[in-house]
Amino acid sequence: MNDFTFYSPTKFIFGREAIDAVGGELSRRSLRKALIVYGGASAVRSGVLARVKASLDANGVAHEEMGGVRPNPELNEVRAGIALLRASGCDCLLPVGGGSVIDCAKAIAFGAGYDGDVWDFFDGKAKITGCLPIAVVLTLPAAGSEGSASCVISNDAISAKRGVGADSMRPTIAFMDPETTFTLPPYQTASGVTDMIAHICERYFSGQGAAAVTDAIATSLIRTLIASAPKALVDPKDYEARAAIMWAGTLAHNDLAGCGLASSAKTRAGGWESHALEHELSAIDPKITHGAGLAVVMPAWMRYVVDADSARFAAFGREVFGIVPADASQEAIKAAASETIDRLQAFFVSMGMPRSLKEFGLEESVIDRLLDGLEKSKGRVFGAFKPLGREDARAIYEIAFKN
Ligand code: NZQ
Ligand code: ZN
Repeated sequence: MNDFTFYSPTKFIFGREAIDAVGGELSRRSLRKALIVYGGASAVRSGVLARVKASLDANGVAHEEMGGVRPNPELNEVRAGIALLRASGCDCLLPVGGGSVIDCAKAIAFGAGYDGDVWDFFDGKAKITGCLPIAVVLTLPAAGSEGSASCVISNDAISAKRGVGADSMRPTIAFMDPETTFTLPPYQTASGVTDMIAHICERYFSGQGAAAVTDAIATSLIRTLIASAPKALVDPKDYEARAAIMWAGTLAHNDLAGCGLASSAKTRAGGWESHALEHELSAIDPKITHGAGLAVVMPAWMRYVVDADSARFAAFGREVFGIVPADASQEAIKAAASETIDRLQAFFVSMGMPRSLKEFGLEESVIDRLLDGLEKSKGRVFGAFKPLGREDARAIYEIAFKN
């Protein structure tokens, strides 16, 4: 097990009454005015927003609001939020929604105290030094942003989507009521579960070998997701399934599943290759849902790199799918590794996820544009399990079209 630092300062309030605790928790921390950030209309339709406001009112916490944040949130939304926050004198952020809304709120929270343009943080021109408190009401388990140290924002003007990380942006509190996810459409449920599995796999396949405790946590989280997702898809109001998915999503990305798998105690585990490849897709077309993009790109990445350490894939397959190699030979290990990738992709497809990039209406001619974006955001060579250059990334995108 490699050295690690694990820091997850968020207080998680989980269960049926979680939302009604919002006002009390903020007031106990002497927070006086919250900027509520939400998306299209789901939080209005479901009544979650009204419940949040009622709880704030009952506890004397004032609020301002900013709705309409789109999936794959855009830089101009963040800029507008920063202006609103400054004008309204809010002292904390209260995103109500999924990863997009939370990330928009995070960028407002660390951008508000900075004199320059908030994109500077994503462009490497500025370092995050402070962040307003963030309290999250999670309605979509997927991105894990309710416990993560990262924030991902799109910049349509330059067709870019970039992430930035700092411990100071980890939310102070997250309110998580699985009942708020009963209204999720199947596609969002499936995309969310895919994203969680990807967060675990990015760390598991970090190129650092095994870490017994973390590997056990990682594979049992994935087994739980594989068992729970079909139940939630058949019965969207299955509380136990929704609860399992919601909590697994947090543990998939608060770094618990990476302890001992990073190359140093100062860095996050994994090379995040599939995420880098996916972010270019949703950068050029914001209508592409992050998890759905991963469902295509991650198996393609796995097929391309598997030979670098097929034993690691076989170990994963044994724990997650019960795949036992026929014998101890190299061929048998390789066969088990390959079956593991097939089974994982089949699971994504069984939930209604796409198999090929063609299903997003993309043509192979887009690959050069994707590669240009990738080089700008990740440099000429990226990845930890196996270093990838431009031609490697091209080959992976090609597999993702042929899948
Ligand atoms: O906008 P509304 O009307 O609220 O609808 C949303 C949105 O259309 C809907 N939704 C949310 N909760 C719902 C609901 N519909 C019905 N019932 C509910 N309870 O779901 C749609 C998608 O929401 P979004 O927030 O975009 O999804 P997700 O949580 O998957 O977030 C995706 C974003 O997070 C980033 C992704 O790149 C993407 O931009 N990520 C953030 C990470 C982080 N900060 O740590 C890590 C991830 O790897 C990821 O990159
Ligand atoms: Zn993700």
